[in-house]
Amino acid sequence: MEEAKALSQALGGPRILFKRDDLTGVGLGGNKVRKLEFIMARALAEGADTLIVCGGYQSNLARITAAMAKRAGLRVELVLGGVPGEPRLRQGNLLLDELMGASVTFVETVPRWDFGDSLEQVADKVRAQGHVPFIMPLGGSGPEGMAGYIFATLEMREQFAAQALKPDRLVVGIGSGGTYSGLSLGVLNTDIGYRLTGISVSRTRDYLLESIPLAARHGATELGLTNAPVAADLDIHDEYVGEGYGTLTPASAEAIRLVAQAEGVFLDPVYSGKAMAGLIGLIRRGHIGRDETVVFLHTGGQPALFAYAAESLLTGARP
Ligand SMILES: Cc1ncc(COP(=O)(O)O)c(C=O)c1O
Repeated sequence: MEEAKALSQALGGPRILFKRDDLTGVGLGGNKVRKLEFIMARALAEGADTLIVCGGYQSNLARITAAMAKRAGLRVELVLGGVPGEPRLRQGNLLLDELMGASVTFVETVPRWDFGDSLEQVADKVRAQGHVPFIMPLGGSGPEGMAGYIFATLEMREQFAAQALKPDRLVVGIGSGGTYSGLSLGVLNTDIGYRLTGISVSRTRDYLLESIPLAARHGATELGLTNAPVAADLDIHDEYVGEGYGTLTPASAEAIRLVAQAEGVFLDPVYSGKAMAGLIGLIRRGHIGRDETVVFLHTGGQPALFAYAAESLLTGARP
């Protein structure tokens, strides 16, 4: 947990702290490490020796799963998808996947997150080789992934107590929604007491207001928790998505530059840059008060910076 004084000042308040989940320590870190601790435990308990994970070409989950699988002595199969015509740069996360020697299957996905039966096909290949596959959910966002963010809530509760902090709000990006779901279970089942604000990086608010309560209720049941959110509990914003998943917006490029220049901290173009664009936009709109104490959960993802054009990151030029 780090104070971001210069950023707070640049924005004219509120007090901002960064929860540095980009520094979670394995394979260049990110929020997925917390999810994977629990997902891998389930895979091992089920006797699996090969993790199958899907994501985009610049998937952070795939990169971190490959790194954690190496550390745990497991095999890994990456299934990376993109819409037709999408560039597939051997840079950023994909380069790191290659450096780790991960086995990669590329598929065209229409719509973007529809992997069809490609995961089952890879699982069949793994079985034919005499191994035991475990297919991870999209975004690592089942109940196990949520458990990671319930424990993160407990960790932050201790950090707040140690520093005599009483944050009013936590702001986080939303992709598949697992991190936000876990954090919302954390809010409703502990006395952490902050408001949880989610910034979508791809999906519509309407979609998330339906899918997150469903997923979180399932997570609560599996994890034996009493409380789960309904749509009215959620503060979710989709006005910072821009043209869609992975596309820079003028606001996200500005957010990346502002945080680098104020704090020497790097955000990423797909998730934390848009989440920060949301935090800045909501302060400017008055949705987040200038007298608040806000924790920004930095979920990582910086390797993807290197797969983006310098011009658009540095000047905000249209990519
Ligand atoms: C860097 C980064 N931040 C945020 C997220 C979003 O997390 P979730 O999918 O749990 O909403 C992801 C997921 O891919 C990510 O890689």
